[in-house]
Amino acid sequence: MIEVNDVTKSFHRGETEIPVLRGLSCRIPAGAFAFIVGPSGSGKSTLLYLLGALDEPTTGDVRIGGRKLSDLAAAERDEFRRRDVGFIFQSFNLLSNLDAVDNVLVPYLPTNEAADRRPQAVELLKQVGLGHRLDHRPAQLSGGEQQRVAIARALLKQPLLVLADEPTGELDSENGAEIYRYLRKLQLERNSTVVAVTHDRSYIQPGDLVYEIRDGRIATKE
Ligand SMILES: Nc1ncnc2c1ncn2[C@@H]1O[C@H](COP(=O)(O)OP(=O)(O)O)[C@@H](O)[C@H]1O
Ligand SMILES: [Mg+2]
Repeated sequence: MIEVNDVTKSFHRGETEIPVLRGLSCRIPAGAFAFIVGPSGSGKSTLLYLLGALDEPTTGDVRIGGRKLSDLAAAERDEFRRRDVGFIFQSFNLLSNLDAVDNVLVPYLPTNEAADRRPQAVELLKQVGLGHRLDHRPAQLSGGEQQRVAIARALLKQPLLVLADEPTGELDSENGAEIYRYLRKLQLERNSTVVAVTHDRSYIQPGDLVYEIRDGRIATKE
C-alpha cells in the first residue's frame, strides 16, 4: 500500500515560492494499476518523484508498506530505488553510453549479479521485440524502442512499484498500446503496483484507479 498523506511540495525560483502540491492525499493498494491525470504543470511528475524517493515533500509524508520514505537512511533509500522501483521516465531513462543489454542490467551493474543476469536481460529484450537491437545504444533506437528497453529493465527487476511518467508520450497509438500491454503484464505476473501518468484516457481500463490532480490536490477519484 502506498499512502500519500497531506503532502505539500513547493519549489523556489529566486525569492518566489511556487506551491505545486497543496495538501495532496491518496492511497494506492499494492498490486493496483493507477493513473495520475491532470493539466500540464499540475504536479503529476512531482508526485511520481516523491513516490520514487527521488525528491522529498515539503510537508506531509509518503509511506510505502507502512514505512515513511523520509525516515529511511540514505543507503536504504538508494536500495529502495535500486531494488524496488522501476522507473519508466522520458528523461533520464537510459544511459547514453551503454548498449541495450547493459541498460537493462543497470540496477545490477554495481553488484556482482550483473553477469548472472545477462542471459535473462537478453531474453527480456527479445520478449519486447528488441532481439535485433541488443548492442544498440539509446541514440540508435527509436523512442518506442527506448521505452521498451526501460520496460525490459523493469521486468528484470520485478519491482514492487513501477512509476511510468507519460510512457507513451512520444509514441504512436500502436506502440503506446504495446507499452501498456507490457505494463499490465508486469502488474499481473509480478503483482507490481503500477502508477502511470497519462494524457490519454484511452489507456484507462475498468478496475484501474484514476487520480486527477487539480490545484495541488486530488480532485476526483474515479
Ligand atoms: N525542480 C523544480 N524546480 C522548480 N520548479 C519545478 C521543479 N520541478 C517542477 N517544477 C514546477 O512545478 C510545477 C509542476 O511540475 P510537474 O510536476 O512537472 O507538472 P506535470 O508533470 O503535471 O506537468 C511546474 O510549474 C514546474 O515548473
Ligand atoms: Mg510531467
